[in-house]
Amino acid sequence: MPNNKIEDILKSFNPEKGEVPFSLFIDNEIYELELATVFKKSWLFLGFENMIKYPGDYFTTTMGEVPVIVTRDQNNQVRVFLNFCIHKGMKLCRATQGNSQFFRCPYHGWTYSNDGKLVGVPYYEPAYVNNLDIEKQGLIAVPNVKLYKGTIWASLAEKPKPFDDFLGDMKLYLDLIFDMFEGNMEVYGGIHRWLLPVNWKIPLENFAGDAYHAPFTHASAVSIGLRGAYGNNVRILYPGEGHGIVSVPGGLARKAVDIDALTPFRDRLSKAVETLSQKYGEFVKNMFPFGPLNVFPNFSMHFTWNYIIFRVWHPRGPTLTELQGGILVFSDMPEETKRQILRRALHEFGPAGVLEQDDAEVWSKISENGVSIRKGSIDPKLIYTRGLGMDVEAEKVLGKGAKGRIGEYYSDVSLRGFYSTLKKYLTGEE
Ligand code: FES
Ligand SMILES: [Fe+2]
Repeated sequence: MPNNKIEDILKSFNPEKGEVPFSLFIDNEIYELELATVFKKSWLFLGFENMIKYPGDYFTTTMGEVPVIVTRDQNNQVRVFLNFCIHKGMKLCRATQGNSQFFRCPYHGWTYSNDGKLVGVPYYEPAYVNNLDIEKQGLIAVPNVKLYKGTIWASLAEKPKPFDDFLGDMKLYLDLIFDMFEGNMEVYGGIHRWLLPVNWKIPLENFAGDAYHAPFTHASAVSIGLRGAYGNNVRILYPGEGHGIVSVPGGLARKAVDIDALTPFRDRLSKAVETLSQKYGEFVKNMFPFGPLNVFPNFSMHFTWNYIIFRVWHPRGPTLTELQGGILVFSDMPEETKRQILRRALHEFGPAGVLEQDDAEVWSKISENGVSIRKGSIDPKLIYTRGLGMDVEAEKVLGKGAKGRIGEYYSDVSLRGFYSTLKKYLTGEE
């Protein structure tokens, strides 16, 4: 049951009217409530099947702050376990990725096979033989795992919403991206992980619907030729259920950075526009490749003529986020094309990316400033009213087959949707 302080914050949280209290981005109790609701009940993106291609492949990550191991067992089944030794709670696996048929705890050496069974207990006889039924013991499995078109998702809830209901109309837009790969989706160049001194929700806003910042935060990207001049024609698509898409007409960065090696990638995108518009509707031609997006709560992608990047915003504290990100390529493209895509992506987004640095500078100042302001017991309401009441059915703007609502001119429509969904989790409605 929310306490008084949380109740007060939630009272001034009216996302449908565009009112979001600043506390949401710095308050520790709100943060803890998010972990216990959003990250406990929602479906969470964990990674791509391509990251664990062979039996024994695994990677470690978190669901909220809960550490998990994602592995492909010897029978080819994808499994998700708490990264937790049931003997005395040691973190079982401390590597970020690898291949192993077994996980052996560094503390007392209990050993688990990668289907979760406890298979080895040192010095079992005579002290344990009558007191521990090995057969009945094993790793704690995450109760719900869903594989969807090459992606891996899980939920810690006992009975989560059906996965398709959770995605809602966002599924159409994710289908477009994942179908485009025709089974050739590859995570290339590994996963970068780094810490950002900011609340997890602020960075994802840029993907879910805050393209409004780009002409200012990324003004220098135009002068150095990474982007053409920013227009006022960016559309924000709200597919419902808290998800969000920024749709940039014509796609991003086609003219900039013209490198021959990118041609096979761009040709694939052009071809995909044709085949996918036949399958899903004319609207595909008006939005492909669409730009940034966010799947509620914390999985983002950015889709341009030069690359497709993905990132997961892992909460680590009210003003701390661990970013895990990488790029997707077509596995059957020439190696030089993959390398150039990786270079282009890292040049813009990544620990040293020029756009990433612009963003991170702003984000860290929001946290710093915000913490100081909250010390004065002041909780301003932030303003999310852009385009309020002006959004229309997506089909009217994008054409036949589109789903969701469109807000033009950098509307906050998807952010109001994100925060309305967040509020439902925080108040127990979801
Ligand atoms: S805590 Fe893992 S073997 Fe003891
Ligand atoms: Fe940005």
